Amino acid sequence: MNKDVFSNLTYGLYIISTKYEDHFAGCIVNTVVQATPEEKPKLIVIVNKENDTNITMKKSKKVNLSVLSEEADMLLIGKFGFRSSKDYNKLENTEYKIGNNNIPVITEKAVSYIEASVINEIDLTTHTIFVLEANEAEVISNKPVMTYDYYHNVVKGKTPPKASSFAV
Ligand SMILES: Cc1cc2nc3c(=O)[nH]c(=O)nc-3n(C[C@H](O)[C@H](O)[C@H](O)COP(=O)(O)O)c2cc1C
Repeated sequence: MNKDVFSNLTYGLYIISTKYEDHFAGCIVNTVVQATPEEKPKLIVIVNKENDTNITMKKSKKVNLSVLSEEADMLLIGKFGFRSSKDYNKLENTEYKIGNNNIPVITEKAVSYIEASVINEIDLTTHTIFVLEANEAEVISNKPVMTYDYYHNVVKGKTPPKASSFAV
């Protein structure tokens, strides 16, 4: 199998955030897809089981999803994409607000966000596909959105092993 083909797939870049009791967790993901167009659209997001965000989302069943702009820098992406919420408070020195679902939404370098509920989970052994239902969606700015391609080729960012699309 020529695994180079998988690097031809295209994505955006997002921060998902969740909270259970007093514990906040959030991380960078590229694996967000809108699945259905109804009144409350359904989406999927794929999260590695070793990520604290996966463990916390399974408990809270709530998640907020921020769409990053091209302005998102390695300070923000490094914090959310290369550190663990298990032992680090990612909200410190990060711009956020509290959503209507009481879960923090990252607003820093975000063009828009969605507040969602987890309505189903599919086990992929190493990862979980979370099926989400959107409850709210807001636009923050009309700046260009960060694509996975822009992240790799302009920001010159890397993808860590726990990402869904890490090249092996
Ligand atoms: C560009 C990029 C894309 C990523 N995509 C995903 C993804 O789709 N799913 C995932 O589980 N992790 C993804 N990650 C990795 C997580 O963001 C990373 O493992 C993070 O440290 C997990 O934090 P947590 O333990 O606080 O949940 C990505 C990271 C980067 C930098």
